[in-house]
Amino acid sequence: MKDVKGKVALVTGGGRGLGKGIALSMAKSGMDLIINDVIEENANAVAEEIRGMNQRAIVCTADISSSENVRKTVREGMDRFGRIDVLVNNAGISPRKKGRRFPFMRSMMTSGTWSLPLISKGLSTASARCRRR
Ligand SMILES: NC(=O)c1ccc[n+]([C@@H]2O[C@H](COP(=O)([O-])OP(=O)(O)OC[C@H]3O[C@@H](n4cnc5c(N)ncnc54)[C@H](O)[C@@H]3O)[C@@H](O)[C@H]2O)c1
Repeated sequence: MKDVKGKVALVTGGGRGLGKGIALSMAKSGMDLIINDVIEENANAVAEEIRGMNQRAIVCTADISSSENVRKTVREGMDRFGRIDVLVNNAGISPRKKGRRFPFMRSMMTSGTWSLPLISKGLSTASARCRRR
């Protein structure tokens, strides 16, 4: 990635999978990261890896299907870095990967959760909050 050094990204669901990969790639390009996830342990591990790359990283553990949690996450990021340049609205359900099922994800989020709170509240609120800043 070009011309992103010093910029700040918020990655939702950044504790594993695609979100983790994107976050690490951004850090490699010189960006600082706000790592959101519902699983604190995973988010902490990613943040630690980013700090090991000499980039700044904070963890915001929150379920972003709640608008209030999205607001809190954006607020924490702004308090720490004073800016959010990029939003990676990644958090979501991945029910199948390489033929395997993830019962945890299925039990945590139903298809109803995906279609309503996560998209209508979580994803859109995250976009709106970051745009407003
Ligand atoms: N992997 C694929 O092939 C694929 C294909 C199409 C779309 N996607 C989408 O890409 C995104 C990432 O996929 P993945 O395969 O990396 O999934 P993954 O299950 O490996 O990772 C998702 C991460 O998001 C977190 N998360 C889930 N709900 C959350 C919530 N409400 N608030 C905060 N964090 C939450 C999980 O804890 C997890 O760390 C998902 O939105 C998925 O639907 C993935």
